[in-house]
Amino acid sequence: MKLIKAVRGTKDIFGTDADKYNYIVNTAQKLFEDYGYTMIKTPIFEETDLFKRGIGEGTDVVEKEMYTFTDRGDRSITLRPEGTAAVVRSYLENKIYAQEDMSRFYYAGSMFRYERPQAGRQREFNQIGVEVLGESSPILDAEVIAMGYTLLEKLGITDLAVNINSVGGRESRLKFRETLLNFLEPMREDLCDDCRMRMEKNPLRVLDCKNEKCKDLTKDAPIITESLNEEEKEHYETVKKYLDIFGVKYIEDPKLVRGLDYYSSTVYEIVTNKLGSQGTVLGGGRYDTLLKQLGDRDIPAFGFAAGVERVMMLLGDNYPKNTPDLYIAWLGEATRDFAFKIAQDLRVAGLKVIIDYNSKGMKSHMKKADKLEAKNVLIIGEDELNKGTVVLKDFINRTQEELTVEQLKEKLI
Ligand code: HAM
Repeated sequence: MKLIKAVRGTKDIFGTDADKYNYIVNTAQKLFEDYGYTMIKTPIFEETDLFKRGIGEGTDVVEKEMYTFTDRGDRSITLRPEGTAAVVRSYLENKIYAQEDMSRFYYAGSMFRYERPQAGRQREFNQIGVEVLGESSPILDAEVIAMGYTLLEKLGITDLAVNINSVGGRESRLKFRETLLNFLEPMREDLCDDCRMRMEKNPLRVLDCKNEKCKDLTKDAPIITESLNEEEKEHYETVKKYLDIFGVKYIEDPKLVRGLDYYSSTVYEIVTNKLGSQGTVLGGGRYDTLLKQLGDRDIPAFGFAAGVERVMMLLGDNYPKNTPDLYIAWLGEATRDFAFKIAQDLRVAGLKVIIDYNSKGMKSHMKKADKLEAKNVLIIGEDELNKGTVVLKDFINRTQEELTVEQLKEKLI
């Protein structure tokens, strides 16, 4: 019989990867809650139009990468390729803006993009992200950038660079579009097919092209920060000032435009050189016009998302292992009931306890405890049972002591 395998571009997460995944998501959740964020969980699929209108028709995500299908009710449905558009949809639909001036949300979950799979790039991948709605202060931009950086720092990830830019509002971008098109026109024929199309739909995307020839041709392209108006320039300056105050080092990258169309003003990415071509660990920015586009509301917003699989690759061995506090080695049928009762009591008290169902010899118990990297082993033999005691072996320091059950509970709980 042919064994059915996971679909190309998807991956199971189990064993030590599951420990890493949980560590990352739990650390993020704790940090985000410390900054005043609350969780939002939106559906994994949405109406296709949400992403078309939200992310932009000219983007690779919408044009080539969406998992779109017609459901049995003849609706066009898309598996979410990212979280921002859905959070905005939920915020507008539930009129959250009427309940609070400013909302801070975090989320974690799978996203879907039909990309060419490679290390650090999957078709189903996980993101942890935040979205703040209702605040236009540049201090927020810097604070959120600092929060994302702090998360990666807390996870022990080093050698990161924070690249920032401002892509300005609609008018500045239109002005820049003209300047950029004038620059690109003479090289139109030498650009890749995608870039020629981008020139028609969204010329800024040309600056985001990964093709080496296009990169080389556009290395002296005009820069967007020169097209910003006074207010946008001041916003950008204040973001940088507060990044300095928060102690976050950054690199200004005037070519940074990001792959999604909803950004205005500040954009940024946190990158590493340890993941080859998939070096962007976290990306985000300000999207002050998306709420207008999706719900006719002038509400400013800012957010980011990090790729959990990429963070997992960077973690190395730097994560707490999910090892048991105690392994119970019971010897002989007579000790079984007593051993299971102790296991139950200790688990109820919050200890992580592993116990085997079948009788085993001492040697094979020790082998198993070793494999599980148990911190302690509790030995229950018939002699001990008769005396009402147990032997607690510290597996790390290799010491042992005989205790009554009461003494054991006092010691471990
Ligand atoms: P994004 O840059 O498209 O932004 O994705 C954010 C992160 O998700 C990337 O930096 C990367 O780590 C990870 N990622 C993206 N695609 C893949 C993939 N195919 N495989 C593995 N990891 C991937 C957004 O999604 C925006 N919604 C971020 C945002 C929130 N902007 C404002 N608020």
